[in-house]
Amino acid sequence: MPTTPPLTNPYDALAAGYDVVMAHVDYGGWAEYVLDLFDAHGLQPHSILELGCGTGSLALELQEKHDGGFHYRATDRSATMIRVAQAKAKMAGRSAGDLRFAVADFTGFETDEPFDAVLLLYDGLNYLLDEAEVSALFTRAAAALAPGGLLILDQSTPANSVNNEAYFEDEGEADRFTYTRRSRYDAETRLHTTEFDMEIDGTTYAEQHVQRAYALDEIEALVAASPLTVVAAYDGFTLDPATDASERIHWVLQRASDDA
Ligand SMILES: C[S@@+](CC[C@H](N)C(=O)[O-])C[C@H]1O[C@@H](n2cnc3c(N)ncnc32)[C@H](O)[C@@H]1O
Repeated sequence: MPTTPPLTNPYDALAAGYDVVMAHVDYGGWAEYVLDLFDAHGLQPHSILELGCGTGSLALELQEKHDGGFHYRATDRSATMIRVAQAKAKMAGRSAGDLRFAVADFTGFETDEPFDAVLLLYDGLNYLLDEAEVSALFTRAAAALAPGGLLILDQSTPANSVNNEAYFEDEGEADRFTYTRRSRYDAETRLHTTEFDMEIDGTTYAEQHVQRAYALDEIEALVAASPLTVVAAYDGFTLDPATDASERIHWVLQRASDDA
């Protein structure tokens, strides 16, 4: 009789095949969009802190696209994701000086230097299941920003879960990694649950990822109660205003200047 593998923490096993699962994502295009947002909001950052950086794909693209690279620090709660990111940076010849990765939870981290920009992209926010955690993230990000600095983050919305991923299923494989993914969305709780069954080097693993789909006005209210202000909320990957129909929202939030 087949046995059910024990659940591992989100991303502990998936890290080994995360880039296979995300092969459809145009990280170069995501990096261009982030650079466009800096331009659109008059920011010329020298230093960037990325939260929930995963396997470092966006970090590497941004370093590649910016002449000379940023002073870049990138963190994630998952030690295995960070190990993959470090290996990719080494392969890409990125010096440990200009790009460094570390393990940190984005609801409870501290930094010893201020950053011009803080990034959190591709649904990291959705992993926070209650509003107190979102408030903690905003407080920590504000503390990490230099006065006038920007927090750019995105979120997947209830519209995305309803329109595209209510009952989503796929599978894939590469080298020694195969996976199947099933997701379901509960419109009442707005919790989106994704289950991964994986085989890595002949061993089976299972992970359950639970995310919450926040509405536009919920995040707006949480920002209003934080040390940050909303500069813009964009309909994903555009410079058009977000609406309740937006499937992805890119937020540009700012820490006030000291003289404001
Ligand atoms: C969908 S992945 C996105 C990763 C990466 N930003 C990308 O674009 O590929 C979400 C990431 O958020 C991280 N994460 C979730 N909750 C976190 C938390 N509380 N603190 C730090 N990282 C967290 C996960 O470990 C995972 O790497």
